[in-house]
Amino acid sequence: MKKEKLAAVRGMNDLLPADAPPWEAFEARAIDVLRAYGYQQIRTPIVEHTALFTRGIGEVTDIVEKEMYSFVDQLNGENLTLRPEATASVVRACIEHNLLYEAPRRLWYMGPMFRHERPQRGRYRQFHQVGAEALGFPGPDVDAEQILLLKRLWEALEIGPVRLELNSLGDGEERAKHRSALIAYFESHAELLDADARRRLHSNPLRILDTKNPAMQALVAEAPRVTDYLGAASRAHFERLQELLAVGGVEFSINPRLVRGLDYYNLTVYEWITDRLGAQGTICGGGRYDPLIEMLGGKPAPSCGFAIGVERVIELLRESRQPSDQAVCDVYVLHQGGGTYLAALRAAEQLRDVGLEVILHAGEASLKSQMKRADASGAEYAVIVGEAEAAEGKAMVKALRAADAAAPFAQQRPLALAELGETLVATLAAVSALDDEPISGTN
Ligand code: HAM
Repeated sequence: MKKEKLAAVRGMNDLLPADAPPWEAFEARAIDVLRAYGYQQIRTPIVEHTALFTRGIGEVTDIVEKEMYSFVDQLNGENLTLRPEATASVVRACIEHNLLYEAPRRLWYMGPMFRHERPQRGRYRQFHQVGAEALGFPGPDVDAEQILLLKRLWEALEIGPVRLELNSLGDGEERAKHRSALIAYFESHAELLDADARRRLHSNPLRILDTKNPAMQALVAEAPRVTDYLGAASRAHFERLQELLAVGGVEFSINPRLVRGLDYYNLTVYEWITDRLGAQGTICGGGRYDPLIEMLGGKPAPSCGFAIGVERVIELLRESRQPSDQAVCDVYVLHQGGGTYLAALRAAEQLRDVGLEVILHAGEASLKSQMKRADASGAEYAVIVGEAEAAEGKAMVKALRAADAAAPFAQQRPLALAELGETLVATLAAVSALDDEPISGTN
């Protein structure tokens, strides 16, 4: 019987080695920037009780209504869900471990999220987020701090222009007034509503403002704006945030129709958007979610946060960069089996001791075919432990990428095994310093 071919689940992607360098670069930069603002890492499980998300994100949201991977644990009957986002999980963990008992917290996380959406460019069923949550801060100073952090990250990544859209949703009472006004407005134009809008009219009218239906754009443009319902305190919060952003040199536009797809938000909401990724151009979304901790059973703690869609940022990085040098190691060590293998093994360990990345050829092969592997690895140097050299406590060193005949080891030459590490570290440092020198001269 022919076996069915196994493949990854639709919308869930493998990250192959050739694609890993921009991910590693992005993650390292993101961690640096998060640390620069005093954020600490938190990791929560990928599976949570379904009730966490229905309560936290809201029953009448796209995510909870139709995008969650929920299942009943076959062994104990628990209702579980693969996390569609991590804010609810972080808040749960803070309540469960009493993390806010002594002081507020600045936390960050990264990892996969799961939403059963229709896959397309920039939209996947397993995708990755890097996010941050500041819990126990009423803002708007922390709201501004997070936006400045993001601006710094985009600049460090050199991903080109991304614009910031900002809005304020007000507090619960103001939102309720706006909601009633919206329902009344849409009811008075019922004949213009599409099926989706009619379905949401009483359950989640705010989401109608998010419609992509071209036939409803004019109607939505004239709808009551949430910013017209803000009271004095909410208005002051929004104005102070704008002042702080101006001081920090952050450009933004106010989008009164920006409502976000999760129910826990109040006051500040924002999205960073690029025009270079087609329909899925939002690379980051966030805002304030003061009520969430109480909704999940904790003591009140005003909070705000954001999450970055990693796949989308990686696509921008790929667009704006030359393919990077994909060397797997600095040094490739060749040998002729037997005693030379043992000498090569010791040499490779010594090289790793001094911080070099080393591949020691595994298995037996001719030196010629080992040399081909060494070349393909992208290594700067081959270290060849042949029988004659090993007997003398030496190895041959050859530069694999030297364009210049005068470069160190452009011609293969022997070196005492005891000096290998120190010499290669120094030579590599000199070569990379030359590469970094500004180009001058007349050609
Ligand atoms: P979100 O807007 O649902 O917010 O997601 C944040 C970002 O994740 C989006 O802007 C997008 O870049 C990326 N993203 C979302 N869905 C997908 C998908 N199916 N495929 C690829 N990328 C996707 C949240 O998740 C909130 N937890 C953010 C937050 C944190 N708010 C406060 N704290």
